Amino acid sequence: MNQPNSLTNTSPGLRRGWLPVGRPDDFPLDSPRRVELLGEGVVVVQRRSGLAAYADRCPHRNARLSAGRVVDDCIECPYHGWRFDGAGQCVHVPALGPAATVPPTAHLSAFRLQERYGLIWVALDEPVCELPEIPEWSDPSLRQIWLPPIDINAAAGQFVDNFLDFGHFPFVHAGTFGAGEDEFIGDYEVQRREDGWGFVVEYPHTIHNNEDPLVKTGEHPLVQPRNMTYTYGAPFAIVLRLELPITSVMNVLFTALQPLNESTTRVYTAMLRNDCATDAKAQHAIDYELEIMAEDLKVIERLWDGTIPLGAGQAHTRADRNTVEFRRIMQRLLSA
Ligand code: FES
Ligand SMILES: [Fe+2]
Repeated sequence: MNQPNSLTNTSPGLRRGWLPVGRPDDFPLDSPRRVELLGEGVVVVQRRSGLAAYADRCPHRNARLSAGRVVDDCIECPYHGWRFDGAGQCVHVPALGPAATVPPTAHLSAFRLQERYGLIWVALDEPVCELPEIPEWSDPSLRQIWLPPIDINAAAGQFVDNFLDFGHFPFVHAGTFGAGEDEFIGDYEVQRREDGWGFVVEYPHTIHNNEDPLVKTGEHPLVQPRNMTYTYGAPFAIVLRLELPITSVMNVLFTALQPLNESTTRVYTAMLRNDCATDAKAQHAIDYELEIMAEDLKVIERLWDGTIPLGAGQAHTRADRNTVEFRRIMQRLLSA
């Protein structure tokens, strides 16, 4: 059961946020698909009249519409054959014959839906804010490289909490980029977005740059400076811009989370990079990123439980300013 003072994958307040439900290719024409979101079943269907999302529940006897088919641009329920048009209106009830009056309650209400940043997004209720702006998305000097979607045994909030955190690098990422030299967290500022539903944090630090081939040849030092800029937007979209001055590499990570149910979350990640002209380099970048994520998952898939306490119950320091701000935004969302 949800405690009002904690965030979980099924907190009702999350209905007021844009959440990803898949990539556009996941929804081929005239093939209704069931997706899970916040523990609920949603049917997403691409028809000639457009892409739409509804509760995966027929208003007649609660059958799954996702198990039906598309006929004449209508979703046909697999149970008694009722048909719903692009506006969600029931236009055919076979049991009543052709001249029948369809009950006015035989209607599907569509959820808000949009396609952006290579993902299909759904909001189950009126969203409190728009998706964050990602100017790098349309930068032609950056190649878009998608990681495969990954289902993790942790809550979306826990993944975001970890993603925003930079105190864990030397401990969790010692096998990849984490540098012992990077333990101390210097002062940084959390710049709140005007509408209060997001923030930006800039933080320069040092890493062990194991991705740089010139480290092995001795031409570049292993310990290299890196500038990080986090852009967070409620509830679960984050952009992390990484700039490495020694190698001139720019890597912009875009991550969005789909809370599937209480215990599972689907992670979508795209990298926008200026150093991956070849497919081999892109694959190498994917493998490295997956290795880093595996290091994080070892910790976040084994946290105490699937909740993030929003009031008392956790100790914070000045190094945690950004993850405290994340909690503040979640608290606002859950009580909005
Ligand atoms: S349950 Fe859908 S038509 Fe009866
Ligand atoms: Fe990490």
